[in-house]
Amino acid sequence: MKQLPGQPGEDACQPADRPAGPRATVHRVTAEVLESERLPGEHHRLLLRAPRIAEDASPGQFIHVWCHPPEEIDRPPTSAILRRPLSISRLRPPDGVEVLLRVRGVGGRILAGTPRGAQLDILGPMGRGFRMPPSMRTALVVAGGIGIAPVPFLVQRLAAALIETVVLVGAARDDSLPYHVERTGHQHATLPGLAALGAEVTFVSEQVDAILVSELLERRLPDFDAASTEIMAIGPRAMVKRIAAVAGGRLPVQVSLEERMACGLGACRSCVVPVTPHSNRPIGPGTAGFSLPEGLPPGPNRPTCPAGPTLDSSTPLGPEALAKGTRLFAPSYHTVCHDGPVFYSSEIDWEHLDP
Ligand SMILES: Cc1cc2nc3c(=O)[nH]c(=O)nc-3n(C[C@H](O)[C@H](O)[C@H](O)COP(=O)(O)OP(=O)(O)OC[C@H]3O[C@@H](n4cnc5c(N)ncnc54)[C@H](O)[C@@H]3O)c2cc1C
Ligand code: FES
Repeated sequence: MKQLPGQPGEDACQPADRPAGPRATVHRVTAEVLESERLPGEHHRLLLRAPRIAEDASPGQFIHVWCHPPEEIDRPPTSAILRRPLSISRLRPPDGVEVLLRVRGVGGRILAGTPRGAQLDILGPMGRGFRMPPSMRTALVVAGGIGIAPVPFLVQRLAAALIETVVLVGAARDDSLPYHVERTGHQHATLPGLAALGAEVTFVSEQVDAILVSELLERRLPDFDAASTEIMAIGPRAMVKRIAAVAGGRLPVQVSLEERMACGLGACRSCVVPVTPHSNRPIGPGTAGFSLPEGLPPGPNRPTCPAGPTLDSSTPLGPEALAKGTRLFAPSYHTVCHDGPVFYSSEIDWEHLDP
């Protein structure tokens, strides 16, 4: 395989080198359900005893949950065959890992019916979480809908690192989230339960405020110093895409992406997303990376580096083009489960990402 420009560390167009997000050893544990609580808005909270996962977890990582009793793992189930990915919502010392789920499908219903004292077979912590580079003094966390699930853990860690944290939360209605909404005067609402963890929290609902959280972010953006603020966005695909579009040129934006998953370990490639040639993330097992076979036959080549010549699939790939220094990139993909779920927005090829 011929290695082309664009390998990590070689591309003049890459953003400044960013520290890789944390990715700890993945443990497989049988976790006791310590608490199982139904919450408003078809949500459910599970507190699991999982000391090794609690010790190694960082915000933005998730657990991969087998929905059936652990002893049935070798018996093919008739429903919920795959594990379900759930963000680590909060750590409860000394050894508790909490998840928050919106109960929609069969897997969610089975998990929500798991009583206290039962056991669950879980893998974790999985994936790479949010980065907290030393230059970051302020974190602007933007969450939509069930994207709020990992926010408490994130706020706790940001507060512990003495990083000023501003959280903007959006939902369809005031009662869409399992949080008490407090509205005072003409100001936007807040979520006291989240604010108590150490953040300034603003909540907007489409029903009452007639505004999307991405629009609120656009209004607030000028208040933040571009050199010391990073945005962390978690929510529906359309929301994180919009945030990357409105803020990505001004501030670093980290996005947590969701994709349907099978193995959760980077092996089956069910969960790939297209990435730009600027992505300098160390690639995981089975990830394509930036390379083309010897002999360079065609293939979709995308415009790449603003500093150099670019080409598309109609450009002839003769020696002349190569001699001019034209840069070629194979389409590349990273896995959400192993390389993500958190990426810098500049790493994602938004144009080719499925809606
Ligand atoms: C990294 C990550 C973190 C997540 N964190 C949370 C969380 O904290 N709380 C929460 O409520 N939901 C979360 N989700 C979404 C959640 O995993 C899916 O909603 C869930 O798998 C749906 O399963 P189900 O059986 O209830 O629904 P069904 O719709 O019956 O699921 C059918 C199939 O689709 C898959 N699937 C459906 N939607 C998704 C999805 N969005 N992402 C991945 N697989 C999906 C399921 O795994 C299953 O194979 C997360 C997803 C990812 C990728
Ligand atoms: S789910 Fe198998 S590679 Fe991501």
